[in-house]
Amino acid sequence: MKKLSSSAIAHPNIALIKYWGNKNQALRIPVNGSISFNLDSLFTKTEVTFISELTSDILFINGHETTGLGLDRVVSFLNIVREQAGTQSFAKVNSENNFPVGTGIASSASAFAALSLAASNAIGLDLSEKELSCLARRGSGSASRSIPEGFVEWFPGVMDTDSYAVSIAPARHWGLVDLVAVVTHEHKKVGSTAGHELANTSPLQKARVDDTKRRLDIVREAIKYHDFQAMAEMVELDSNMMHAVMMTSRPVLMYWENTSISIMKNVQKWRASGIPVCYTMDAGPNVHVITTKDYSEDIYQKLACMNGIKQIFIAAVGGKARLVND
Ligand code: DP6
Repeated sequence: MKKLSSSAIAHPNIALIKYWGNKNQALRIPVNGSISFNLDSLFTKTEVTFISELTSDILFINGHETTGLGLDRVVSFLNIVREQAGTQSFAKVNSENNFPVGTGIASSASAFAALSLAASNAIGLDLSEKELSCLARRGSGSASRSIPEGFVEWFPGVMDTDSYAVSIAPARHWGLVDLVAVVTHEHKKVGSTAGHELANTSPLQKARVDDTKRRLDIVREAIKYHDFQAMAEMVELDSNMMHAVMMTSRPVLMYWENTSISIMKNVQKWRASGIPVCYTMDAGPNVHVITTKDYSEDIYQKLACMNGIKQIFIAAVGGKARLVND
C-alpha cells in the first residue's frame, strides 16, 4: 500500500484591515487588500495521508468524522491540489483545533493554511511561500494570510497567481496581544463565504472599498513605527465600516450582540484613559481586544469583570504555517 503523509500547524489570524467581498468568488480574489497578524496560542494541526486504496476523501475534525458541506469544501480543495500534482489519489484528513469553530475566530484560516501545507507536502509538491499562500486562498481567503509569519499583508491581485499574502514584519517586531472575548459558542448563522457574496448589496460597500488604500497605508506605517494610537483609530474604523456594510446588506447581517457593544464601548473608554487598546470584530459576535503585552493582564482583568463574556483567549503575535513531524 502506497501511503504519503504530512502534518502541519497553522495559526488563525486577526485582520486589522478586513477582507470583505470578492472580485472573483470562485477564485477568492478579494475586492480589497487586508492586513492581519497571526495568533500564536491558537492553532489547527492537520495530518493529510494520501492512500491509494481509498475510494473517496475522508475528513475527521477534532476526532469526529465530518460529512456534508464541511467535507465538500475539503474535497473541492483537495481536487485543486491533485490537479496541481497530476495525481488521482484520495486522502484521509485529520484536523484538530484548540479553539471553538464558527464563533468569529477564523477557524477556516488556520484550517486551510494547515491543510495547504500538509496536503501539498504529502503529495510531493514543493511550493514557495507565495504559491502556498495562493493555494490556501482557494480554500478560504483569510487562509492566505495564515501562511507567512507575524504581521501579514494580502495583496488582492487580479488573478489566481498574483493574489497572495506576504509577511510585512516578523512576530517579534511588536509585542501586541489579542484578547478574544467569546460572547457565544453558538455556530454563527451566516458564515463569511455567504457574507462575501452579499457585500455588493450594501450601498456602503463602494465607499468602504474606495477608502481602503488609505486605511492600509496608515496601518502598515503604524505597525512599522509601533504607533498604537494611529493603528487603533484605523482598526476600529475598518471594523465599523465592514459591520456597517454587513448591517446594510440584503439580507441584513447583524453579528453584534449586546455584550459585543458593551465591550466595544468599554474599550473606547479604556483607550481614552491612556491605555493602548482597541477592538475589532469579524463575522461573529466575539470581540477581539488588541493591546500590548504590558497591558494585557490589566485588560484581561477588566474583561473578566464584565457580564456576558463566556471565555477569553489570549494570543500574542504568531509565526508562520509549518510542517511538524509525527
Ligand atoms: C470578516 O476568509 O473566512 O474574518 O474566503 O469565504 O473562507 P472565505 O471567507 P473568510 O473571510 C474572512 C472575513 C473576515 C475578515 C478578515 O478576516 O479579513
